[in-house]
Amino acid sequence: MIPNTLRAAADARGFRIGAAADPGLLEMEPEYASTLCGQFNMLTPENVMKSGPIHPASDRYEFGPADALMRFARRHDMQVRGHTLVWHNQMADWLSHRSWTPGEWRSRMEEHIAAVAGRYAGQIAAWDVVNEAIADDGSLRASPWLKGIGPTYLESAFRAAHQADPAARLFYNDYGAEGLGAKSDGVLHLVRKLLDRDVPIHGVGLQMHVELNDYPLPGQVADNMERLGRLGLEVQITELDVRLPQPCSTAALERQAQLYGDILDAGLAAPNCTALTLWGVSDRHSWVPGFFHGWDHALVFDAEYRPKPAYHALLKRLVQAGCKDRPGEQGASPPPS
Ligand code: XIL
Repeated sequence: MIPNTLRAAADARGFRIGAAADPGLLEMEPEYASTLCGQFNMLTPENVMKSGPIHPASDRYEFGPADALMRFARRHDMQVRGHTLVWHNQMADWLSHRSWTPGEWRSRMEEHIAAVAGRYAGQIAAWDVVNEAIADDGSLRASPWLKGIGPTYLESAFRAAHQADPAARLFYNDYGAEGLGAKSDGVLHLVRKLLDRDVPIHGVGLQMHVELNDYPLPGQVADNMERLGRLGLEVQITELDVRLPQPCSTAALERQAQLYGDILDAGLAAPNCTALTLWGVSDRHSWVPGFFHGWDHALVFDAEYRPKPAYHALLKRLVQAGCKDRPGEQGASPPPS
């Protein structure tokens, strides 16, 4: 039988297809929950595991919303990507406005990682340990973590995450570093240095928030995946969305579908690429219109949860990839004799 959901097709191919998720919508919108678990075999908490929401006061954690997502994932046999332990955005106020000594900064960071990664130890497939630490020119971003601790904060974060959850695959995650260029060179340099120092890092997350007329060429994304693979690293596309100018046309939706398909193809062809996650379930709740004025329609289900051409493009490529893997099945060429 030909799979007729993204999830079934990804399962058949041994691939992970994910979506960023908001636990607040699970109860409120039955269609949201059924699309999330029906179409995806992996989820990422879109916000609730970030330090601001999960650690609102120095001595207080709010695990409830993240716990709810973990329960949903377990009930529906979905993997979870933890997102994210160390980032300069959505940091708790108590954390971001302090003038601590480097030692104090480091122990705050390590305590946070121990508490959050420790709580979910054994249940998270992959953690985005550090998010967006590289600037556009490839240098280290002047984040509060860099200013507070110095460049060793990255290494310390990965070591602390590994200690808290030895089973999780640990990722460095960033945007604008999907193709080739100064920023992805900077990421490559960073992860190579971490590996040289025996830091427990297993993968690089390529966020990939792109717009229809400005995106990394899929061929370059493939080359970037390959060079990360040569370091022994896994890669995942972690936050894909392709925003369109408003109002959107049929032609734009078709071009969006083509790009979604081409990016998935790059991932499926790369032996070290294990997952592709969309940054949301449907256009109804996407972060895009709130952040990019005049842009919308970035995901593969529309605001009424109807599949868009991009959905069909993803499904088709996943089905084809599954057939290629299992010769003799529908659409595949016969095995060599
Ligand atoms: C975004 C969320 O989607 C929004 O709801 C929130 O208001 C801001 O953050 N890179 C990341 C994600 O790593 O965590 C961001 O998510 C999008 C950019």
